[in-house]
Amino acid sequence: MPRNPKLEEFEIETKPTRSIRRGNVSNFFYDSNTGAFLGRTAESWGKIILFYIIFYAVLGALFMICMVTFKEQFINPRVPRLQQDRGLIGTSPGLGFRPLPPDVRSTLIWYKGTSYESYKYWEDELIEFLKVYKMKGQTAGAGQNIFNCGFRSPPPPGKVCDVDIRAWEPCIEENHFSFHKSSPCIFLKLNRIYGWRPEFYNDTANLPHDMPHHLQTHIRNLTQYNRDYANMVWVSCEGETPADKENIGVVRYLPYAGFPGYFYPYMNAEGYLSPLVAVHLVRPKTGRVINIECRAWARNIKYDRREKLGVVHFEVMIE
Ligand SMILES: *[C@@H]1O[C@H](CO)[C@@H](O)[C@H](O)[C@H]1NC(C)=O
Ligand SMILES: *[C@@H]1O[C@H](CO)[C@@H](O)[C@H](O)[C@H]1NC(C)=O
Repeated sequence: MPRNPKLEEFEIETKPTRSIRRGNVSNFFYDSNTGAFLGRTAESWGKIILFYIIFYAVLGALFMICMVTFKEQFINPRVPRLQQDRGLIGTSPGLGFRPLPPDVRSTLIWYKGTSYESYKYWEDELIEFLKVYKMKGQTAGAGQNIFNCGFRSPPPPGKVCDVDIRAWEPCIEENHFSFHKSSPCIFLKLNRIYGWRPEFYNDTANLPHDMPHHLQTHIRNLTQYNRDYANMVWVSCEGETPADKENIGVVRYLPYAGFPGYFYPYMNAEGYLSPLVAVHLVRPKTGRVINIECRAWARNIKYDRREKLGVVHFEVMIE
């Protein structure tokens, strides 16, 4: 049978040249015939290295863009994404009161002066609200952060100011927050806004006209010897109508008639506690509803009753 030259040719061509060298390890590392090193020529190696250099450069660039975009969140999870003007709450903090009535739509603090069953609800509410203030020393991470702040010694970064619950006396748990004596204590709190710095009314010669006179007098008295006390977010509570003004009686503010300036700005430090003002209604008239409005005073606190900015309203009724 004559040989098919085409087939022969084909066979020769397809004969794997590499099979001859199969098993020859040294040729794998360096092939003197082709100049290949580890199975690739210098040119091939050059291309592949160049490819990976570009590939990782692009990958690295993308990663850097991500890092820059989300820098704050990556580095400090305590910094909120929406800050100040960009936040929904805006720059003006609201004022809140405790204890809160059981019905969220109500703002009436009502009880019978002598009956424990009647004021127990309010007492429990306050105990619950003030729990964090009592617990601070025992809470891990919070206790060691506490700094003994003063008007001339604001806390160093990362530290938080102590809130001395003893300074609220007689508005303390052991004294039933004075509810049992028909002279209840209401606590006021300014909502936290990250990074917000109050602009104090600290020029006693130039207090705003609509600030109640008793507060103006109090500020002048308090700052007479130490001007540092003026750096406070002032607080005032008044009866709304002339009748309410009469019925509310003497109001005391503990420990100060305001939130000391060294508590601000709030930077979400571990263990931060909002300062509170205990408003002690020393001898309110019993047997009638007293409408009370409390205001917080700083140049950059908006006053808007409808939006509930810088002001809080509640009623007290002691039978
Ligand atoms: C008054 O308050 C402003 C901040 O609102 C502060 O910069 C200034 O130093 C304060 N003045 C005094 C006398 O403490
Ligand atoms: C301010 O001081 C005067 C006298 O020093 C005192 O009569 C007055 O009651 C004080 N007012 C307040 C609100 O503390």
